[in-house]
Amino acid sequence: MYKRLAKRVQRTNQSGLGNIFETSQANLISFAAGFPDQNRFPKKALQQAFNQIFEQSEDETLQYHDSLGFEPLRQKVAAHLKQQGTPATAQNVLLTQGAQQGIDLTARLVLDKGDGLVVEAPTYIGALASFDAYEPTYYEVGMAEDGLDTNQLKKVLLQHDVKLLYTIPDYQNPTGSVMSLSKRQTLIELANRYNFIILEDSPYRDLCYHGNPLPSLRSLDTQGRVINLGSFSKILAPGLRLGWLTADPELCQALTTLKAGADVETPSLVMQGVNAYLETNSLEAHIAEINHLYQQKMDYMLACLDKYLPENISYTKPQGGFFIWITAPSNIDLGALLTSRMIPEGNVSYVPAKNLYPSKAFHNQARLNFTGQSFENIKNGVQAMSEILKDVLTQNYSYAGSNK
Ligand SMILES: Cc1ncc(COP(=O)(O)O)c(C=O)c1O
Repeated sequence: MYKRLAKRVQRTNQSGLGNIFETSQANLISFAAGFPDQNRFPKKALQQAFNQIFEQSEDETLQYHDSLGFEPLRQKVAAHLKQQGTPATAQNVLLTQGAQQGIDLTARLVLDKGDGLVVEAPTYIGALASFDAYEPTYYEVGMAEDGLDTNQLKKVLLQHDVKLLYTIPDYQNPTGSVMSLSKRQTLIELANRYNFIILEDSPYRDLCYHGNPLPSLRSLDTQGRVINLGSFSKILAPGLRLGWLTADPELCQALTTLKAGADVETPSLVMQGVNAYLETNSLEAHIAEINHLYQQKMDYMLACLDKYLPENISYTKPQGGFFIWITAPSNIDLGALLTSRMIPEGNVSYVPAKNLYPSKAFHNQARLNFTGQSFENIKNGVQAMSEILKDVLTQNYSYAGSNK
């Protein structure tokens, strides 16, 4: 039957987001999904906190509340942000259903059909899935080791009207790179000069394994142009579906109104449960514990890549976050290889580059997650992947496609 769906759905259906979480193959070693280590979810402590809510609270726990979110938790989020040097008060923190909702609300707030949107190339697949529905005109700006290429950005800004720029400055998804301080400053200057809003998506900010995080864009913001997103997904558990955004009061107010239209409010039970958890547990201690493990996993995956990958495959060496980004010679299509050999033969998966660029122009790169798998799987998965890559590279032929 012909279904009369909106045109924008045609684009969102191509995002590839749905495939990432597919793990139907038994024992598949998935480096694809950005999963935290589920053995480290503080299940008992969360259970106690949620029980406490039911035991202690009046019936209003399950009542409607306001769209901004549970105030004691907003205060705690604001304190957490301030501790990192990002200005925030309970009044301009909006609690969201994950950082994902912050992306969607911002797109809804800023983008009319055809409006200019700059994204890092490559970028977070879920953001593209969200943006696609608003039918923007994408401008891709390449990534360097120290963040997005600001010279390329300047050229885009000289030629096009840009309303929104989406960036993941801290341990970027998918490359793992950190935007340098000077680029952060340049970006703020450019936003002021060319009059655009910056969406700073920072769910990995606390996951710093080497060095220290740099000042957030929001902390450098001089004209209230930065909307900053964060999340409990990577530091507590993604199943909570709890995140936040902070922005200047005017933007925060407008985003809160949009949120009311989207889902009225973030589930009150979750906000209160997490608040109770934070009253009796140290989030900082929990983050320190998972960071210790994730650093070991990252270093181990890097060591495995160093040992097993063929020499002409390069990879990034992040300072934090969840991902390592590999680049093969330009005639290798890692997307085609994933379905033809990696999954069926190697029992290993990753996110191929194609869906991480709005233009879908690149095929020879892939994102590897190291947090969600055991040390043993990291080794076995990297070994299996490397064997297939070696085989393909020694055959020295173009593997079903090329860049551009
Ligand atoms: C850069 C980035 N933004 C947002 C999200 C969505 O996170 P959440 O679970 O908080 O919605 C993710 C999840 O992987 C992400 O990597």
